[in-house]
Amino acid sequence: MPVHTDHSFEPIAWRGGLLRFLDQTRLPGEVCYVETGDYRDVADAIRRLAVRGAPLIGIAAAYGLALAARDWRTDLHDAAAELTATRPTAVNLAWAVRRVLAAADRATAGRGPAAAAEARRIHEQQVEDDLRMGDAGAALIARGSTLLTHCNTGALATGGIGTALGVIKTAHRQGKDVRVLVDETRPLLQGARLTAWELEREGVPYRLIVDAAAAGLIASGEVQAVVVGADRIAANGDVANKVGTYGLALAAQAHGVPLYVVAPSSTIDLLTPDGASITIEHRDGDEVLSFGWMRDVPGGATALNPAFDITPACHISAIVTERGVLHPPFDAALRETGAAVAVPR
Ligand code: MRU
Repeated sequence: MPVHTDHSFEPIAWRGGLLRFLDQTRLPGEVCYVETGDYRDVADAIRRLAVRGAPLIGIAAAYGLALAARDWRTDLHDAAAELTATRPTAVNLAWAVRRVLAAADRATAGRGPAAAAEARRIHEQQVEDDLRMGDAGAALIARGSTLLTHCNTGALATGGIGTALGVIKTAHRQGKDVRVLVDETRPLLQGARLTAWELEREGVPYRLIVDAAAAGLIASGEVQAVVVGADRIAANGDVANKVGTYGLALAAQAHGVPLYVVAPSSTIDLLTPDGASITIEHRDGDEVLSFGWMRDVPGGATALNPAFDITPACHISAIVTERGVLHPPFDAALRETGAAVAVPR
């Protein structure tokens, strides 16, 4: 796997039949790209969060399956199962893999080109959808707002301008004079390392806060809206997102601050009835037992490390998709929006 470093910024790209991705574990210190022709490297990158964010892991897995399709000895259904198993919560992953698998199965000429073309369509669609979500979501943001966001939902999470962060970038580009409070997002600091990096490049004024500061700042009137992404939206509107989102939603509702969830239709899972049915990924406790490279707990310490939590629909003010803004009760609108992009299982 050749590795090289440069200063451009392209989270994922398909070039000359190889997949190139930005290794997000090295940010913000290093902008380092990895190029591979092996789908197993893609699976590994998703597992270790070198590539992360619900839409982007779908795109990466789609290209990964396209790499697998080029080798006639590879059983494509096995490769699809391996890619799908890398992370259980974000539904975009399984959705994108199913789309590419179906395109390869349908192909009358070579399955490789058919799979690559479908992966590219998924990627291009996401870039367009991000722009639509950005416009629809920015319309909800009042001029001069301070917005609180969690995790990273920007270009690094989608390959486009992002979902929740795309809304924030769009509001900024429209001159709405927004400011951002960025949750650092423990355990892996996706906010501090990645969101701050993107906002800095974009020139959006931001300040970093520790996750534990969020509720108090919301209570003291410093936040006009909370804007987050989603890894899976159940049929009833319950949302799985980065751990800590539920706490933000409770605080926001208690203090009359709107919480907006921004996600493409591919994040809607109509076959999952509610949040309780969503599998929450539990990651290695070591991610919590250290901060950066420093292990700062007693030798015998163990940790519980859920990567996501569930925010019940009743705490969500609106769901912004590329097809428009959905208001509660969400069920009927989600059925319509999700059905438009559903891929048979
Ligand atoms: O564990 P991660 O970094 O993949 O978690 C990402 C999130 O929780 C995002 O909020 C979500 O995937 C939406 S990204 C547009």
